[in-house]
Amino acid sequence: MSIDGYVDDVAEDRLLLSNDADFDRVDAVRAACDAILVGAATVRQDNPRLLVRSRDRQKERVARGQQPTPLKVTVTSSCDLDPRARFFTLGDVDKLVYCATPTLELARKKLGDVATVVDGGDPLDLRRVTADLYARGVRRLMVEGGGSMHTQFLTEGLVDELQLVVAPFFVGDSRAPRFVGDGAFPWGPDHRAELAEVRQIGDVVLLRYKLSDRFDAV
Ligand SMILES: NC(=O)c1ccc[n+]([C@@H]2O[C@H](COP(=O)([O-])OP(=O)(O)OC[C@H]3O[C@@H](n4cnc5c(N)ncnc54)[C@H](OP(=O)(O)O)[C@@H]3O)[C@@H](O)[C@H]2O)c1
Repeated sequence: MSIDGYVDDVAEDRLLLSNDADFDRVDAVRAACDAILVGAATVRQDNPRLLVRSRDRQKERVARGQQPTPLKVTVTSSCDLDPRARFFTLGDVDKLVYCATPTLELARKKLGDVATVVDGGDPLDLRRVTADLYARGVRRLMVEGGGSMHTQFLTEGLVDELQLVVAPFFVGDSRAPRFVGDGAFPWGPDHRAELAEVRQIGDVVLLRYKLSDRFDAV
């Protein structure tokens, strides 16, 4: 996020907040996960690839018996998703779309050839999503935004670790999306989160918070 807590600006192009060294660190974190989840709005707006980029890290994953890059996961209630988005077309890996029950049929028609469409409930329930992912072998899920997903995973108490990177500039436009929206977060003035690590990476800073006993310090 920016110094003032935004994860994008209002321009059409995606705002780059990290530097090269931090993008590489994120690649290493991705490589250590079983699945990467983003909200459907991020798929629509940023058209992200969500792949492990480093060939060496891909090879290490294969040597461990994993697919070269983690499962891709998104959630939607509208199913306004383009099957030509890079989320679906890139990476020889399963793509999972958790969809609210009322749009399940539409989602299967639209995305059935490019993804596995799963009933997420009505309304969609993130605990059901994470339980289903667990049943599919996912032990480490990386949630990479946007703000709506961060807010829901945090307020639901589903997060073991928060990695927050602060870029050295301001966005200064309240129309831009923030790192999180409004919500009843488990961590407030009377229940402070545990800061586990602070790391300078060039001109950005990484803050790691331990949010549950499942936090893995390594
Ligand atoms: N800087 C960063 O690291 C970073 C990373 C990722 C994203 N971003 C930015 O974040 C912004 C997007 O964030 P956002 O908060 O607007 O959107 P988002 O979290 O990416 O996605 C929100 C969408 O996900 C679906 N969704 C979320 N919760 C749901 C639920 N409980 N049930 C059913 N569907 C649900 C809905 O999709 P439908 O509308 O399809 O129903 C909703 O509109 C973009 O500007 C992007 O650039 C920044």
